[in-house]
Parts: sequence; C-alpha cells; structure tokens
Amino acid sequence: MEKRKVIIDTDPGIDDTYAIVAALSYKGFDVLGITVVAGNVGLDNCVVNALGVVNLMNADCFVYPGAQTSLNQLDNFETYDLKTSVHGEGGLGSVTLTPDFSKRSETHAVDFILETVKENPGEVEIITLGPLTNIALAIRKDKETMKKVKKIWSMGGGVRFGNRTPVAEFNYWADPEAAKETYALGEDIEINMIGLDVTQQTRFTLDDLFFLQTECGELGALLSEMSNHYTKIYWDSLRITGVVVHDLVAVMLAIDPSLSNEDDIFNRVNLSIEHEGMCRGQTVVQLSPNGMYEDAGPKNANVYMGIDNTAFRKAFIKLCFPKAYPMYIKYIL
Ligand code: RIB
Ligand code: CA
Repeated sequence: MEKRKVIIDTDPGIDDTYAIVAALSYKGFDVLGITVVAGNVGLDNCVVNALGVVNLMNADCFVYPGAQTSLNQLDNFETYDLKTSVHGEGGLGSVTLTPDFSKRSETHAVDFILETVKENPGEVEIITLGPLTNIALAIRKDKETMKKVKKIWSMGGGVRFGNRTPVAEFNYWADPEAAKETYALGEDIEINMIGLDVTQQTRFTLDDLFFLQTECGELGALLSEMSNHYTKIYWDSLRITGVVVHDLVAVMLAIDPSLSNEDDIFNRVNLSIEHEGMCRGQTVVQLSPNGMYEDAGPKNANVYMGIDNTAFRKAFIKLCFPKAYPMYIKYIL
C-alpha cells in the first residue's frame, strides 16, 4: 500500500505529542515534515518540544518553525502567561525532552508547506493540531498551490461548546482570522473539522495512564507523566477523571475515519467562524441534514460529531504499544 504523504502542523503541547507519536508510528503515513506554530506556548518552546519528539521517536523528518503571532498580530503568542498554560510552562507538563537540533530546518513552515504541495500536487494531507496561522499564511502567499492540498484534518472548533470561551475552542480562538481564511478554501479542498464535540467524547482514564506508565516502556511513561499535569486541570475544570487528548483524536481519525459512525460525520456542510467580539473563534455550523436552517453559504467542511471512545483507545494502544495490547485488552478495557 502506498504511504500517505502527511505534514503535521502543531503547537506541542501535551496532546500534540501523543498525536505526533501516533502519526510517526503509523506505517501508512510518510510524515514529510513537522511545521510548528505558536499556541500552547511560545514558538521557540514549541519548536524545541517538536525537536524533542522527533528525537524521542528517532524520526527522519525535519521541524520547520512557523508563525509566532496570530495573523492580525494582536495576540503575540510569546506573550502568553506561560505559567497559566494548560500545558505547563515548558509545554509538556513536567516533562523535558532532549531536542535534536540537527533536525531544525532553516526553511520557514509556510515555505515548506508550499514547496511540498507544489512537488506533490493532490497528494499531501495536512493534519493541523494548533492555531491555523501557518495554513492561512500559505494560502495568502500562494492560494493556487494550496488548492492542490489533498485534504486537511484540523483539530479545532466546537459546534455545541468551547473550551477557551463558552463558545470557542482554543486553536480557532487563538487565531480566528486564520481559521476563517483556511475554511474559505473549503470549497476547493476537503477540510475535516475534528472539534470538541468529538474529541471530548474520548477519555484516557486514570487506568489508561497507569497502564502507559507501567507497561508501555519509556515512551509510555513519558506520555503518562506529561498527562499527569493535565489530570488536576480536567478534574478542577470539568470534573473529569482522566484526560482528553484532543489532537490525538484528529490523527486517529485521519488514520481511520471509521472510528466514527457514518451518521456522526456531517459531510459538506457550511462552517463559518466568528472572528471578533465576545464570540471570537466560534464555529457556526449548519449541521441540519435536511436543510432546516436557512442555507447560509458554501459547503466548506466535513464536521465530525462523534467517535467510539473504546475503539479509539484500543486503536492508539495497538498502534503505539502493540506488545502491550493483549494485556491492555485483558486488564484495562
Ligand atoms: O482545544 C484543544 C487544542 O488546543 C489542542 O490542540 C491543544 O493542544 C490546544 O492547542
Ligand atoms: Ca495543539
């Protein structure tokens, strides 16, 4: 089977790390490069974290630094109060990875994306795990080339609720103009929105984290340790025991969309993004399959609204820790 050509755009980030590990573990992906955008923490920190994951996985792809501020420059991600980041000051909870600086490219993320798509028209899938600034900058620089992207899988948005505000999810809230300009391309290319409605249906339980810690080697222990930073936040904010690994859901669905029932995938619907005011970053989606709403515009997105959580957890363990999988099935599930 020919490998799928993939670029990962990310702001690592604890859940980004799970997602990158899964994407690099999947034999059906040829991860051509990892482009970085500021988001969870500042750009430099995100780049170091991405270099750490590439080193941890002994991956042969390069890391391409990208945008460190949102499109309209109003929110310089570097100025985020890092101590309040959900992902901790360094972006990976209490974990520090060893970066392989030899894998840091001097090519800007936007130029890498455009060059790669130009060389592989109609073949490159982009999985976005952070704010969409790099994608929007690429569209602004060369829209015709970006129309040759095969598809985009984007962790972001939320139809029924938000997490950065009551109505907006962090990635699209952080740079709503970029999200708006990205989805404007949705009439020309397939964009799959993997929002909170689906990610928050998944849960790695405390038993899952214990299993990662004790039965999945150094990699599992690192992922579990990173997540420990999260558990208190999820309990305090949502009374959830365990963690929601949002970005991993986007990668696992890109690998296998059948983790979602067909009737939980709303294909070719209209999605618009509020980009200012109290509802900044809100994704307004015309989900009605029967056109109940006034048809508000172009069909520019496929929106995932559900997933089989047990199948998702099993697929991740089977992909990344196959030797431990039988024990996981027997004692944890
Ligand atoms: O809202 C969840 C998203 O925001 C994830 O990508 C997480 O890494 C944060 O960036
Ligand atoms: Ca992220």
